[in-house]
Amino acid sequence: MVIVTGGTGYIGSHTCVELINNGYDVVVLDNLSNSDESVLNSIEEITGKRPQFFKVDIDNAEQLALVFNKIGSQAESIIHFAAKKAVGESVNEPLLYYRNNLDSLMNILVEMERFQIPNLVFSSSCTVYGQPDVCPVTEATPRKEAESPYGNTKSMCEDIIRDTSRVQQLKAISLRYFNPIGAHESAKIGELPVGVPNNLVPFVTQTAAGIRKELTIFGDDYDTIDGTCVRDYIHVVDLAKAHLRALRKLEVETRQNSYDIFNIGTGKGSSVLEVVNAFKKATGISVNYKIGSRRNGDITAVYADTTKANTELNWKSELGLEEALRSSWNWERNYRKIRA
Ligand code: NAD
Ligand code: UFG
Repeated sequence: MVIVTGGTGYIGSHTCVELINNGYDVVVLDNLSNSDESVLNSIEEITGKRPQFFKVDIDNAEQLALVFNKIGSQAESIIHFAAKKAVGESVNEPLLYYRNNLDSLMNILVEMERFQIPNLVFSSSCTVYGQPDVCPVTEATPRKEAESPYGNTKSMCEDIIRDTSRVQQLKAISLRYFNPIGAHESAKIGELPVGVPNNLVPFVTQTAAGIRKELTIFGDDYDTIDGTCVRDYIHVVDLAKAHLRALRKLEVETRQNSYDIFNIGTGKGSSVLEVVNAFKKATGISVNYKIGSRRNGDITAVYADTTKANTELNWKSELGLEEALRSSWNWERNYRKIRA
């Protein structure tokens, strides 16, 4: 059995679908602070199976222990998605982020030791690279001072896992996600941003849907192909599949203490203007945009070298930018229709 923390969230829900479709028994833990319980219905509609669910604050050790008393002895693996992830909010409320993200991970590690659960996959982020001196970045590229408390929690969590795996019977992998976008092809699950989206793709789809008047592109004077920032946009379904490969690697790993890190991206950088143009190609919709000033904390460019994941996880991204954007748009339309 696999415990998926944050399993009703964006990436977690897509991973639950892939796990169930590949025969895994899935139990979801989430406090629904940034997701909705109805996601479980959608997972059931897609896969024909409803994961068992516990509503629990993972940062609360006592609450978590009660849940593990019920399920811990059946678990072989944990995929730990649960975390707060809003970069701007983390700047204003650092303690909220340190407490939630660090305590949650440490509570999970305590329960893993208590129930001798060997395998952990952790959600890290390319934010740990900051603005790298050279792109693409490999896992050996030095981490840099994070731009935000959120980013710091990812670096710190990686270190906590590394140190714990040296002394506890723990096999662990951190996946450093680049920029996840897109939605399941059924358009039954996807990203649900609360309020005005901070991220590019939800802003683009909401502008296309007429909810926002226009997209502001944050700066066109960067040293890139067209002056706008470059990121590595990875389809969430490809990303979800990477978790299965990571899990399989841990399942066959014979060392009792192991820790590894993998970049999960496409290996291709795309500028903001390229995303806007790809959206037009994918959907036929031209999104209104204007060029605004740079956003604080944005880096110029980051994209992944994925050789390590390609060779050691036998994983490769398969879906392209246009496919991802089309799926985001289908999700946006389906979601609005459902709520209309
Ligand atoms: P999300 O907010 O959709 O999902 C996270 C889930 O965790 C939510 O359902 C939320 O309710 C839950 N959660 C948060 N704190 C909790 C707690 N204390 N107890 C129980 N549940 C809790 O986010 P996502 O985009 O699916 O991200 C999943 C993971 O991937 C996070 O760790 C995030 O930091 C990481 N990540 C995300 C991105 C991205 O751009 N989406 C990029 C890199 C890394
Ligand atoms: N952008 C705009 N206009 C917008 C929104 C974004 O021009 O309205 C630009 C940004 O300036 C940036 C690019 O689009 O150049 C992508 O921005 P996002 O906010 O979508 O993504 P970021 O790369 O800033 O950060 C995201 C998550 C972080 C995570 C990081 C790496 O928000 O939490 O990806 O995974 F750490």
